[in-house]
Amino acid sequence: MNSLTKHLKKSIEIIENNKNNLHNDLWRLNFHLMPPIGWLNDPNGLCYFKGEYHIFFQYSPFNVNGELKFWGHYKSKDLINWEYLGVPLLPDQPFDCHGTYSGSALIEDEKMYLYYTGNVKYSGENYDYINNGRGSNTILAISDGNNIISKKCLLTNEDYPKNFTCHIRDPKVWKENDNYYMVLGGRTKEDKGVILLYKSLDKINWNFLNIIESENKFGYMWECPDLFDLDNKTILMISPQGVEKQGYKYQNIYQSGYYILNGDYKTNNYSLNEFTEIDRGFDFYAPQTFLDNKNRRILIGWFGLPDIQDFYTNKTIEKGWQHALTIPRVLKIIGNKIYQQPIEELKSLRKEQLNIENNKIYNIDCCFELLIENILNDITIKLENDVIIQFKENLFTLKFDSDKLGCGRTSRSVEINNCNKLQIFVDYSSIEIFINDGEEVFSTRFYPNEKNIILEINGNGNNTLYPLNSFSIK
Ligand code: FRU
Repeated sequence: MNSLTKHLKKSIEIIENNKNNLHNDLWRLNFHLMPPIGWLNDPNGLCYFKGEYHIFFQYSPFNVNGELKFWGHYKSKDLINWEYLGVPLLPDQPFDCHGTYSGSALIEDEKMYLYYTGNVKYSGENYDYINNGRGSNTILAISDGNNIISKKCLLTNEDYPKNFTCHIRDPKVWKENDNYYMVLGGRTKEDKGVILLYKSLDKINWNFLNIIESENKFGYMWECPDLFDLDNKTILMISPQGVEKQGYKYQNIYQSGYYILNGDYKTNNYSLNEFTEIDRGFDFYAPQTFLDNKNRRILIGWFGLPDIQDFYTNKTIEKGWQHALTIPRVLKIIGNKIYQQPIEELKSLRKEQLNIENNKIYNIDCCFELLIENILNDITIKLENDVIIQFKENLFTLKFDSDKLGCGRTSRSVEINNCNKLQIFVDYSSIEIFINDGEEVFSTRFYPNEKNIILEINGNGNNTLYPLNSFSIK
């Protein structure tokens, strides 16, 4: 460990230990992973390794609004009891000195191979940091699960195809037969978002194989790609930037969703189905997936978005922290649609079971799961008389009636044929809504003034409410 690494680690420990004001913060979440202090963004390096789940995340402990990025690290045997392992990946080398950006984990030979982007911003007056002035290095860090054993720069800007800007990043790596593949998100010089596909025989030397792109331009940059098989279909998941709003679609500043890939994407013999958004709420971006030991394809997203300040805000900034990861969701395909279900493990957090009658007002602790089954007609659920969750005339809507709790959040909708089941997770300052067993999902933050909130359901379904226990985090 060089002395910069040592001092950075020490400084982070000091500020993490100095977070007393977080103890009586009513917006801290009970069953979501959060930054110990400061800023969190993308989930990184998701994997199941030697009997434990490992979740890394983009972390800026020094600044509640981001800037210099590290990787923070949590692990768990059961996705409920967690251990925080500190900050294993630091921007401490010339090839990653302006941020250890997002990436993924490949597990082999009892080791974790962590591929990520080393961000470098050169100083110079005339740089725009899009076409010049930025290094986007593809780096391999090898870890024993606790510590980084080595770091090696594998690809620099010189190695990428010539018609690209400097925006190439977020390697997702996987093994197929005896070959390794990697997808990277990129922005071409014509400002088109595309995927770069690489192949390797040894995990170290990578050869460019193909570009995966949509026929028509869909945004100027594709971030955080993921490519995986799900129920015999090939899914390309991306987080595109620069997509125009269209009816109820693409309402957030940046999007995340997927294409079904038909044909052979390793040659040019492929086509992409229509892009589908994976979450319809105000606060969701940069999802990643991994396979666990039960062969579940689990997705975790960033419960937040970058660059939202012109639209809405997060009140936790006042408290010195911002953002979280979503609850893990298990994916399956029905027809051509990905369905997302909260992991079963969350059931172990349920305390008692309360029956909630329709058209009555309840005052409840703001940490619960609400299950509504056999919904036959329209339904409206109100939280604090301000957050309105509604299905009416084939439209599902999440909206804020005033600016009180939403801090600028307004309304998001999706058209669906019916709504017969809702599963809603509320965690002090977050709401995740699963419609019809995950056919659609809405994730949003909100900022109530009390730990207790008013709940009212106007509908005709069967309502069950489970107050929830907290994760344990060591
Ligand atoms: C997505 C993203 C990634 C990048 C990381 C930096 O939110 O912009 O493309 O690697 O965040 O923190």
